[in-house]
Amino acid sequence: MSHEIRLASRPLGIPSAANFSRAQTELITLPDQQVLVRNLFMSVDPYMRGRMNDRKSYVPPFELGKVLEGGAVGEVVESRAKEFKAGDAVVSNFGWREYFITAPKALHLVSRAVQPLSVYLGALGMTGMTAWAGLNLAEVKAGDVIYISGAAGAVGNVAGQLAKLRGCKVIGSAGSMEKVKFLREECGFDIAFDYKTGPVLEQLKLEAPDGIDVYFDNVGGEALEAALATLRVHGRITACGGISGYNEEKPRPGPANLFNITTKRLTMRGMIVSDSMDRRSEFEKEVGGYLQSGKLKIKETVVDGLDQAAGAFIGLFTGTNIGKMVVKLD
Ligand SMILES: NC(=O)c1ccc[n+]([C@@H]2O[C@H](COP(=O)([O-])OP(=O)(O)OC[C@H]3O[C@@H](n4cnc5c(N)ncnc54)[C@H](OP(=O)(O)O)[C@@H]3O)[C@@H](O)[C@H]2O)c1
Repeated sequence: MSHEIRLASRPLGIPSAANFSRAQTELITLPDQQVLVRNLFMSVDPYMRGRMNDRKSYVPPFELGKVLEGGAVGEVVESRAKEFKAGDAVVSNFGWREYFITAPKALHLVSRAVQPLSVYLGALGMTGMTAWAGLNLAEVKAGDVIYISGAAGAVGNVAGQLAKLRGCKVIGSAGSMEKVKFLREECGFDIAFDYKTGPVLEQLKLEAPDGIDVYFDNVGGEALEAALATLRVHGRITACGGISGYNEEKPRPGPANLFNITTKRLTMRGMIVSDSMDRRSEFEKEVGGYLQSGKLKIKETVVDGLDQAAGAFIGLFTGTNIGKMVVKLD
């Protein structure tokens, strides 16, 4: 028997508990060439909000009444395929459930020596790789002044720490004084401010009077507009996310100052992390090395139990997480 979380209805605005339902399924006898996995941790991520709409995007929408999907790390309980054995730790896209059966090609073997295993959903997983690929996309180099919005989240805090390791001056914004303190004291950001205490543009101008070279956008909206105004000539933007708009029913008008792209000859490049999968081992080697040597700090908000998964997901839009939000499954 395995419990799972399904999409009960499509949300309007910020999702609520009523959009999710819990169900149980029988596990079939394990077929030949298949693997049975028990999930240990599952990921909740902002992009899942887009998949809850009935709209075509770069990933198909979740189906009503069906189990949700997402990153998870688990252990092999039983294997009838030569590629895996019981006890192996594996990453998959079969989150939101306790157990699943799949073919070996849907699993990525990871080392149990790295603990906690949830790090494969964060710094050493999808969000860490997003931070790494997003910095590469903007060709971030020593001496750059970089501004990162959503800085205390999973992508943002790793992007900031990696940018510091590259010799940048790093500025971050986040939604509480506790997060600002975390960025300054634990992640080594040079400057951090609370975007809720005053207009982003005013705070950014105060903190970076000579402008910024790079903007790592996790948020869109007001933060993007402030960055466009603050970027120097030939500045670069990595368009990673736009969480401030994910729960909007209709697209909001874009930044009023896009013409800065022309006058300052800016470059703005969009990214989707899955496009970088061919560089996964390079990422794991570099960032894994930083983790091992203690140069990169891991920060997670861990929520306990499958029943809390919907709440953890909703919390991404109210800012209840510092670092990577993960759900521990018992
Ligand atoms: N392009 C890609 O391949 C890719 C891959 C992964 C993630 N992303 C994007 O990267 C961004 C960060 O993702 P993540 O996984 O690291 O999530 P996260 O930052 O760990 O969690 C979301 C955070 O967003 C902030 N937030 C929520 N509503 C906001 C609003 N209206 N305005 C400003 N901030 C708001 C909250 O922090 P505060 O307390 O600071 O508000 C919250 O903690 C998201 O936009 C996500 O979609 C893109």
